[in-house]
Amino acid sequence: MAKPKFYITTPIYYPSDKLHIGHSYTTVAADALARFKAMTGYDVRFLTGTDEHGQKIQRRAEAAQKSPQEFVNEIVVWIKDLWKMLDINYSDFIRTTEPRHKEAVQYIFDKFYRQGDIYKGTYTGLYCTLCESFWTERQAADGKCPDCGRPVELVEEEGYFFRMSKYADQLLKHIEENPDFIQPPSRRNEMINNFLKPGLEDLCVSRSTFDWGIPVPFDQDNVIYVWLDALSNYITALGYKDNDPLFQRYWPADVHLMGKEIMRFHAIYWPIFLMALGLPLPKKVFGHGWLLLQEGKMSKSRGNVVDPTVLINRYGSDAIRYYLLREIPFGSDGVFKLEALVQRINSDLANDLGNLMSRTLAMLEKYFNGVIPEPTVPGPMDDELAHLAMRTPEEVAKCMDQLQFSRALETIWNLVRFSNKYIDENTPWLLAKDEEMKGRLGTVIYNLLESLRFISVLLQPFMPRVAPLMWEQLGIGNNKELQDWNSISWWGGLVPKLMAYRGKDLFPRLKLEDELAALQLEVKGEENSE
Ligand code: MSP
Repeated sequence: MAKPKFYITTPIYYPSDKLHIGHSYTTVAADALARFKAMTGYDVRFLTGTDEHGQKIQRRAEAAQKSPQEFVNEIVVWIKDLWKMLDINYSDFIRTTEPRHKEAVQYIFDKFYRQGDIYKGTYTGLYCTLCESFWTERQAADGKCPDCGRPVELVEEEGYFFRMSKYADQLLKHIEENPDFIQPPSRRNEMINNFLKPGLEDLCVSRSTFDWGIPVPFDQDNVIYVWLDALSNYITALGYKDNDPLFQRYWPADVHLMGKEIMRFHAIYWPIFLMALGLPLPKKVFGHGWLLLQEGKMSKSRGNVVDPTVLINRYGSDAIRYYLLREIPFGSDGVFKLEALVQRINSDLANDLGNLMSRTLAMLEKYFNGVIPEPTVPGPMDDELAHLAMRTPEEVAKCMDQLQFSRALETIWNLVRFSNKYIDENTPWLLAKDEEMKGRLGTVIYNLLESLRFISVLLQPFMPRVAPLMWEQLGIGNNKELQDWNSISWWGGLVPKLMAYRGKDLFPRLKLEDELAALQLEVKGEENSE
């Protein structure tokens, strides 16, 4: 049977600077979901990329005395390396400076113009260059951008306008009829009450005071507004203009992921552009919360702690991925703290998971010379363990369908913790003292190994490095059939008589003082070295 498709996207990032851990957050979430869907039988397409035009980039390039293209090229290399370090398994990476994108955006603009959705006028109003966003006097009453709080500039220029109002009712109807379309629900209400209900103003979709952008096809003195350029990436990357088989297969997107600050563009402008193109709307637009620092909003100037490459080099990509997905419920804001990262690594990864693995394999080596025993003698908690293990995949799948990454991991950890309890209750070291209990001892060890196998398969989308390491140690490194989703729909897949071994610890235990010192953060009241 043909696999169902699943198309997921991240925002395309501005290569105006290197990215920080907050940007990695969205991409890690998208990657975990993409991998989960692929594991559970979907034909997945996962798109990310870079949003390379606009006034902000042009100004940054000028300051660096480089051409905008030269300037972004260097950062894009860095971004792609970052995604490699974080094991981001995207299917395609779109850059808005690529011809495939530029040509399609011009085609779209032209189509809008010809069908009367775009008209020429004069724009007078406020503009935030950092957010590349237009504001009315009312919205930016104090002269500051409502999104980022920085001063807005007064601009007056000739430009092209998109008739947003023409589609507003149709969009409102769609949002009301499809409760899942904008998630989480609080953001849905915000979109309706703050933006749609007060009435949509026409949107200026061109700029003429700078030239780093895609030229308006029939008026080369204007460049296309960077948000119309950027949002189109979700279809240009699939070959929309040529009605490519990829486009036919994957559009509409199943989920667009983004931070809450750019929800408005994705939940209002983008659907309206799609309506004007006569295309189906994405099934879900999900706005997650922000990763903050105790001092406030995250920015590169905050130093080491927000540089994802520093963190990955020190803790490994799995630990960073785990922390990001586990610590903060997706949708809410959360504070990024090194203390909490170290705590998660020590308690969840090294203690709960690492110990379960090392204790079980050490006992297998000690009592059975590493040969997986046959389960022959049932006993206390066996059924509970097996039932919990068999229930877990379904529960994890439910959480993932709702993008509740943290709950999905918590669900897996219930099995990890129950398995540790199973050891403590069954006291295998006492069973080992009695030759008559050898059968029961073998059963206990077998059940633990099987539970670890379930855990390893479930962890794969979240922590793609640790799963193969666990398989290696569990003796199933070459046995693909015991590594896939179907193999955890029933208990007892692990084959007795195979060899397993205790390898190196999955996660090292850390000392907080050492970590604070290594990252040059405040140690015991000393001044931060930033
Ligand atoms: N280029 C636009 C998006 C265009 S999409 C058609 C843009 N780029 S950005 O580089 O500013 O990145 C925005 C995205 O990065 C946010 O939507 C969010 O997903 C992520 N994050 C940036 N900072 C973040 C935090 N501090 N916390 C969580 N996510 C963060 O906007």
